[in-house]
Amino acid sequence: MKGAFEAVKISEHTYWVGAIDWGLRNFHGYTTNRGSTYNAYLIEAEDYILIDTVKAPFYQEFISRISSVTDVRNIRYVISNHSEMDHSGSLPATLMAANPEKVFASEMGVKTLSKHFRLDREVNAVGDNETLEIGGVYLSFLETRMLHWPDSMMTYLVQDKLLFSQDGFGMHLASAERFADEITESILLEEGSKYFANILLPYAALVEKALDRVSSLGVPIDILAPDHGPIWRKDIGKILGLYAQWASQKPTPKAVIAYDTMWGSTKLMAEVIAEGIERGGCSVVVHPLSVSDRSEVMKDSLDAGALIVGTPTINNEMFPTVADFLTYAKGLRPKNKIGAAFGSYGWSGEGAKVASEILSGMKVELISEPIIANYVPDLRTIEKCRELGALVAERLKGVQ
Ligand code: FEO
Repeated sequence: MKGAFEAVKISEHTYWVGAIDWGLRNFHGYTTNRGSTYNAYLIEAEDYILIDTVKAPFYQEFISRISSVTDVRNIRYVISNHSEMDHSGSLPATLMAANPEKVFASEMGVKTLSKHFRLDREVNAVGDNETLEIGGVYLSFLETRMLHWPDSMMTYLVQDKLLFSQDGFGMHLASAERFADEITESILLEEGSKYFANILLPYAALVEKALDRVSSLGVPIDILAPDHGPIWRKDIGKILGLYAQWASQKPTPKAVIAYDTMWGSTKLMAEVIAEGIERGGCSVVVHPLSVSDRSEVMKDSLDAGALIVGTPTINNEMFPTVADFLTYAKGLRPKNKIGAAFGSYGWSGEGAKVASEILSGMKVELISEPIIANYVPDLRTIEKCRELGALVAERLKGVQ
């Protein structure tokens, strides 16, 4: 029986049967200003094959889209490319409703699904590079362990030259349009780079390997169908090229300054450093952490050659927003950056020193001792900030 929503045909044998989350604004600590989609796909051949499901609260929307093509009970096979709950949350209910003959996942996927759900059925492991002939189509599996979970894999539908790439090549972007070529390019670039910087960055080296593996498959890819955001059916080289560029973390002559302030002193220092960088001929983005979200800062840092962090000292520690940002940034393991720390203090002054140590631990190349100002920066301290900005610019111009 048809419901409120309809499937969208994306290739000869495949329908998009996912859900649009227009209201999502936070994805485990990552601010998703434009919402997201949870993409699931239904292959229609001799049998119906489902690729992934959706986040649990979107089950009805997903089932409604499947029902616009066929009765859910006609699904004979289910493939779980990724166990994270935004794609597996509706799996138990779907298995109850569809009662498929077989469920497939990667070897690690079998383990992670068993730890998420107490499924009363077997999940069959498929091997890396294995090809199955099921339901009248050929499906090849590409294990992409740690992109970005241990269970992650991609599935290639041979007949349609279509790669279901799970989180890879995705972005958090809710849209009425299903295809990337229908969406403004600057939005794709912004949300794609933000997704990469906040989800895939720690595994950038694995992304490079995965790109090599995708090209070494020696098979054409006409459609790239990720689990979030739009589907790529034209100019697939563009998104592959962007991924290669982001994964390389090649620095550009751009600096990011992230800071917070208590009574304006650290703010003043941040702005003088920024002016020094700009006067030195490089671009700079300033993020006051009282209003800038950590995931926005990471997006802007993706291609930046410098990360400069400012914090006042409060109760012998960094300012809480700065500690939050550095904890988050450290986990994402950005590479190839120079940096420095600065900030004001009243009577102890640990804040900027702790920030500097954390940057060093992140393998950011420190180009200056922390610049610290007692209460309010004097002219000598202002001059040091200006000099730091000039030094940052001088070093960054070398990366051009
Ligand atoms: Fe979209 Fe890793 O889940």
